[in-house]
Amino acid sequence: MERKEFLVASGMLVTTAMLAAFALDTSGASSEIPEEGYKNRRPHPNDFTEPILKAITLGLNAPNPHNTQAWKFKIVNDHEALLFVDEKKILPATDPPARQIHIGCGSFVAMFRMGASGLGYTPQVEYLPQGEYSFSEIGNKPVARLTVVANSVNEDPLFKHIYERQTNRGLYSGNLITEKEFNIILERTTSQHCEIKLCNDPVELPSLLELLYKGMEVECNDWNAYDESRQWFRVKDDIAEKKDGINLRTGGMKGLKRWIAETMLNGYSKKAWHNKSGIENYLKTYHEVVMTSKGVVTFTTGNNQLIDWLKCGEDYARFQLTAYDQGFFIHPLSQVLQEFASIKKLHDEFNSRMKVNAPSKVQMAVRIGRGSPLEYSYRKNTSDFIV
Ligand SMILES: Cc1cc2nc3c(=O)[nH]c(=O)nc-3n(C[C@H](O)[C@H](O)[C@H](O)COP(=O)(O)O)c2cc1C
Repeated sequence: MERKEFLVASGMLVTTAMLAAFALDTSGASSEIPEEGYKNRRPHPNDFTEPILKAITLGLNAPNPHNTQAWKFKIVNDHEALLFVDEKKILPATDPPARQIHIGCGSFVAMFRMGASGLGYTPQVEYLPQGEYSFSEIGNKPVARLTVVANSVNEDPLFKHIYERQTNRGLYSGNLITEKEFNIILERTTSQHCEIKLCNDPVELPSLLELLYKGMEVECNDWNAYDESRQWFRVKDDIAEKKDGINLRTGGMKGLKRWIAETMLNGYSKKAWHNKSGIENYLKTYHEVVMTSKGVVTFTTGNNQLIDWLKCGEDYARFQLTAYDQGFFIHPLSQVLQEFASIKKLHDEFNSRMKVNAPSKVQMAVRIGRGSPLEYSYRKNTSDFIV
């Protein structure tokens, strides 16, 4: 074989020149989180003097779909702003009604409230101040009016974890989460809107996880849905430069495997992204990860309107921080909950298994367990969100 080409684990063609380059590249071999952790990856409230910008800056740490950070703000004065969805950052293929994008807004609101309390302000939030809006009005009508009032308040106990929380897509270890552990998390989440339920039954759990995993199989084989991930996918220097989107590093991929995959996907070519054996390898790893889950937690609302999505986002973010406080990571497995056409069969199967009928809706389904922290995701600068 004159040109020395190898078909590697990623299912892609790699040349000897590329492997030689890897020998010189030590950056990809580190198995640790970079020393700075989340620092230098997120804006900081001390960068501002205006109380509303400080609180917004803390809110930006919120979990949000594909880390598109689909938020924009109109600043009213030093203490008040309007939050809108940034309509350019929604995910029409995998989230046709923008339900998940609004869950991300609710998560922002939860972190904004915690942040304001830690800064010594009372947060006030008025949802949908100009009323409910339709899909075509996204970005034009506000999601919420956000106000910070100066007086002494009790710091939210979750404030200290704002920067530390992360979506953890790694392997989980140890025992299944117990009812007792879950109930402590639930109590401290102080959920306002969702019914939050745990499946930790050793007999039920594996088949539930298989169903959630199958959702990813369907997404990967739906060209439009899977291509949307490509559009928000970042490799190498783009990760720190663009400060958004998804990448292999926050997914825990390391070393040679990551270097090869990032090199092959550099350029973001559709051909490489939709490569059949590449997808098969990804799904194999994803299956292994999912099956190490120590429980599945679902967030269900009685209705399925804008306000339910927003309030669910608040419950979700508070749950994630409380779980972190108690030594647990979580990771959403959202595919079977989504509304794109090819997932409908699995969506219906999931709903009948969970005994959920419209207008009730399972808004989030997440795996939970103990694991090791992975690389932190970035956030754009606060000024990038101001209109
Ligand atoms: C509504 C919603 C749905 C999500 N669905 C998924 C998912 O299906 N798979 C996944 O890996 N992460 C999912 N996430 C997590 C986001 O990708 C994550 O919050 C974002 O990349 C930022 O990373 P961080 O949470 O570590 O800060 C979801 C988050 C939200 C708010």
